[in-house]
Order: sequence, then structure tokens, then C-alpha cells
Amino acid sequence: MSRFPDGFLWGGALAANQVEGAWDADGRGPSVADIATYKPNVDPKEYAAHHVVTSEGIAAALADPDVTYYPKRRGIDFYHRWREDLALFAELGFGVLRVSIAWSRLYPTGEEETPNPAGVAFYRDLFTEMRRLGIEPLVTLSHYEMPIHLATAYNGWSDRRVIELFVRFATTCFTEFGSLVKLWLTFNEIDSIRRHPFTTAGVIEDKSPQGFEQAVYEALHHQFVASALVTQLCHELIPGSRMGCMLTKLTTYPLTCEPEDVAAAQAKNLENHFYTDVQTFGVYPRLILADLERRGITLPILLGDEELLAAHTADFVSFSYYMSMTESVSPDAERTPGNTVLGVKNPYLPSSEWGWQVDPVGLRISLIELYDRYRKPLFVVENGLGARDELTAEGKIHDPYRIAYFRSHLREMRRAVDQGVELLGYTSWAPIDMISASSSQISKRYGFIHVDFDDLGNGSGQRRKKDSFAWYQRVIASNGASLDEE
Ligand code: BG6
Repeated sequence: MSRFPDGFLWGGALAANQVEGAWDADGRGPSVADIATYKPNVDPKEYAAHHVVTSEGIAAALADPDVTYYPKRRGIDFYHRWREDLALFAELGFGVLRVSIAWSRLYPTGEEETPNPAGVAFYRDLFTEMRRLGIEPLVTLSHYEMPIHLATAYNGWSDRRVIELFVRFATTCFTEFGSLVKLWLTFNEIDSIRRHPFTTAGVIEDKSPQGFEQAVYEALHHQFVASALVTQLCHELIPGSRMGCMLTKLTTYPLTCEPEDVAAAQAKNLENHFYTDVQTFGVYPRLILADLERRGITLPILLGDEELLAAHTADFVSFSYYMSMTESVSPDAERTPGNTVLGVKNPYLPSSEWGWQVDPVGLRISLIELYDRYRKPLFVVENGLGARDELTAEGKIHDPYRIAYFRSHLREMRRAVDQGVELLGYTSWAPIDMISASSSQISKRYGFIHVDFDDLGNGSGQRRKKDSFAWYQRVIASNGASLDEE
């Protein structure tokens, strides 16, 4: 009978900038997330236009103390309610919880010599309580939340000096929390730098005289070097630790078997894999180097960088999976948005309200593809459905659509495990409603736990269990066996 391995880690995933709030509490400095504004009913096809960030825009946002239209400044108040939330995660039976550490809570501008003691204390308390509850922390060092000062003063990761500042931050994390945290990730969705360079790497177009694209690849190279350096450090400072890389898995199918459609899909997949190729094989893929040369982009590779990349690769490959994409060379092909991408609509798949194409089989395909390519353990660290929920007069949330999404994806995940894929665990996105990364809405709800806030922050913040709560609880308690019910 098909089953998940003993010790399989079941849990959920969060990001500091989407849950903590308390953006100016206890010495925290502003981060790149704090200038993200609420985007009501944005046509997702215009996503890119809504993410143009200018120096002038940043200055205006920072001068504005408002929290209503900057929802990540308030999050779901996890900073004050984390004990209650952890208790609910423990009740779900979590063996793992993925969180991130807000860099600007430890280093408000990123340039301080020593960390902010209040920030250190917050995370130490959080990880201690997780351990007490039997929940293994899986910690992302960088999840769209660098101190904004490093964006405005350095143009983010395009400046090589940021590597050293990040290493200082990571060293603090390893020395302060290493006895509690063994599982780490470097950069969330490192590939997203191409789609939103400011959010991922603090790169600003009007500060990039070398050209924006050039600056973005400089930043990416610096993130690769930083990944290798902190992987080395993590292994040295924390015995038994494991460091993963993290990719937005955007599996792309050809719309037809017309060879040019197949080639177009292949190009998308090669680009998607490029990042984890560097972080696991330790070298830049030849095809990517040739492409960069054609585009006139120069990587700022210094003496010793290539040796570093080769010597300190990831221990495991983690990824997010929400949807698949389709590609075609036909200009008439209908397009649909996905996770900060735009692709061709797949006639075989339904879509969420936000246009993301729901494809459980794509998760199985992705797992097999990644495992065959990298031969390293995998970890699904994000997967879930953003949907509107209705709170009934009795205070219930009936969410069969969410249960259906998870059930179908977990069944396909198990089929991949049955075929021999080595999978360490699964953290759903997200166990609790939070502020959306792309649109800063909370009405795009992902959780098993409802949070009583609306998009403008009105509400009590009360946590309520949705129907899916008991369903996921059963999946975990049975190590997936309950997936065979119905
Ligand atoms: C992932 C991000 O790409 O997608 C998360 O790592 C994000 O931070 C998730 O929340 C879902 O996207 P969104 O835009 O619906 O919040």
C-alpha cells in the first residue's frame, strides 16, 4: 500500500513579512515589504506594472505612517499572537513549521555591527516554544524582507558589499538559534529576482546606471555567492544542520506537440531550473551563460567565486508549487496569470479566482523531474490555494474547495514518493490566513485557520478553525492514510 515514509515532516509555512506586523516595534527597521501597498482587484495580468518601484515612491511610502494601505506593516499580528498560533499548529499535529527571520528585526538598517537584542529575543522565544511543542523549525533566512536601507543606499544585492552584511546577519542567526534550528533555507524563490527584483533583492531601476537587467544579474550572482558562504557557515557552526535552496517550481507544458511549442516550453523550463542548477551542481549552466552573453550581460564573477559555488552546494532542494504553466509560439494563444507570471491557458485545467491553473498531476511531474535532475532530497515548502472564504452567521467557514485542492495534490505527491522520490516533508501555504505576497490582500485566503481581518485591517483578528482544519489534522495523524477516504 502506498504510504509516506516514517518521520515524514508534515506542517505549514509562513513568512515574517506576511504575518508578523509590528513593523516599527522594539527597534525593528523598515524592510522592502513595508512599502508594498494593498492592490484591490488588480487585474493580475497587470501585475508587473503594479510592481514598478522608484526611489521617489519609496521615499513617499516611508514618509507615510499609514498601516491601512500597507498591510504588511500590520500582517496578522503574529508578533503578538504567536503563542496562540503555535498552539493551533500543534493541535493540527505539525512536525515542522517553516518561518522566516525578518532581517530588519535583527539589523534595522542592515549595517549595524551588533544585533538588536529585542529581535534576537523574539525569535529565540519563538523557536524555543516550537521545540517545546515538538515542532521542528525550518527557517528561511531571506523571504522578501531585506532592510530597505540596503535597497536605497546600496541598490540592494547589486552591490557586492551586501554579501558581507548578509553573512553577518546569518552568523547571528546561526550562533543565536543554532541549538534550536537545524533545517535552513537561504533565499525564498531565488528565481523570483527576475520577476520582482525589488522585493527579492532590493534592486531599483533608477539606481542602476549599468542597466536594470545587468543590475539584476549582478544581484543574483551575489545571492548565489552569499548562499554558498552561509551554507558553509551553517555547516561549520551548527553540527547536524542542513541547508536547502528554494525554487518557484514553474513547470511549463507545450500547448501543442508542434515542435516550436515544445521548444518554447523547454526554454521556460531551462530558465526555471537554472537557479537550482547553480545551487546544487555548483556551476552556471552553459546554456544560460551563452544566453547571457548574447544579451550583453556580464556576471560579476570574482576570483574564488566559482570555487565557492562548487564547494558549498545545497543539502536538499525545496520548492513552492501552486500551478503549472503552458507555452506556445502562437500569438493568438489565450493567456492567464500564475504566481507572478503570465503564461498560456491550458484547456485541460481549471483556474482559481486569481487565474492560477490548478494542476495536481503537475506536482507529481515536478517532483519526479526535480529528483531525477538533482538526486538530492526534496522538500515541498509551499503549496496551497488562495480563495475567498465566507464566514457564516454561526462563525463557521466551510471550505470544501480547499480540501479538494490539498487532497488532490497530496495524493499526487504520494504517487511520486511511491515511485522513489526522496521527500523530506511538506509545508502547506499557508496554515493560517495572511497578507498575500503579490497583492497584499488578506481576502486571498490560504489558511486552515481563518483570521478575522479584512483587507483594510478591520476586525478582531480572532482565529477560527475552518472545515479544512480537521481534515488536515486527520491527514497528519494518519501520515497520509486518510487521503484514501472518499
Ligand atoms: C510564493 C511566496 O511565491 O507564493 C509566498 O513565496 C506567497 O510569499 C505565495 O505568499 C502565494 O502568493 P500570493 O501572492 O498569493 O501571496
